[in-house]
Amino acid sequence: MSDRITVRAPAKINLHLGVGGPRDDGFHPLETVYTSIGLYDDVVATAAPAWSLGLDAASYVDASAVPLDDSNIVAAAARALSALHGVPVVADVTITKGIPVAGGLAGGSADAAAALVALDRLLALETSDDDLLRIAAELGSDVPFALVGGHALGTGRGEVVTPLPVTDTVLWWVVVPSTSGGLSTPAVYRHFDALNPGASPEPSPATAVVEALASGDARALAAALHNDLQAAAVDLRPDLGSLISLGEAHGALRGIVSGSGPTVVFLCADADAARGLAGVLQEDGRTALVANGPVAGAHLVNGL
Ligand code: C5P
Repeated sequence: MSDRITVRAPAKINLHLGVGGPRDDGFHPLETVYTSIGLYDDVVATAAPAWSLGLDAASYVDASAVPLDDSNIVAAAARALSALHGVPVVADVTITKGIPVAGGLAGGSADAAAALVALDRLLALETSDDDLLRIAAELGSDVPFALVGGHALGTGRGEVVTPLPVTDTVLWWVVVPSTSGGLSTPAVYRHFDALNPGASPEPSPATAVVEALASGDARALAAALHNDLQAAAVDLRPDLGSLISLGEAHGALRGIVSGSGPTVVFLCADADAARGLAGVLQEDGRTALVANGPVAGAHLVNGL
């Protein structure tokens, strides 16, 4: 048994995000198509006699708002494993963030998924896949997808994931995080409710995106991309609308707000187009990251 385990988990983009009017529990019914991209958070878990949590971040990530106390989702993941197995779950844990925080890319969910896998392996808990997915769903709507990766259909509040076939097509993205702070997911959902009073409980169907993904044609996928939260995010942050226009004028097939935002993602025809667009946006003084996908969900990168 290794006394140090590193697990890597990817960011997500919603290729389709259909949102219905709120349920009695306040959550919104979703029909979404998740895809994973090659932007990652790593969680390193090292054997230790007591719990400790540390944080490191890439230069383009502002992690100052990430709590390191019991409210961190990684601490919640450890408590959930402890409750399931009836044993203490302690370790020295470090999160290294490559996924922008509060950006609509599910960075916190990636941390939770990576922590579940890392702590399970470190402590040889042998949690079943079903239990891991169930605990993940309790931790947050996007956590199960961070375990699974690839492309997947998400229903319920997003936590019920059904893998979709992965074709040979590599999707090339330019990811533009906000440099003026994140957007709170609950605040964007609340604004969606204000803009859509009496919204149907039925989320808009993901059929067009599912078919475009199966065709392997990036142009068809670009035309089908859809985000019901985009109007709310752009209303809260009008600068996102002009950023989308800028990217689409410089070679992107399509730009959309990622999840609840404020990160904007541009789908490009190929690697050259993505690098070209990133260069233009960087010259404009923005952070612009090239990432491709789909990629694997939470996976070990060392130890066994
Ligand atoms: O599930 P998660 O903890 O990621 O959700 C964060 C917040 O986002 C929820 O408390 C809720 O306000 C909002 N949300 C929602 N409907 C969903 C998912 C999230 O209203 N399907």
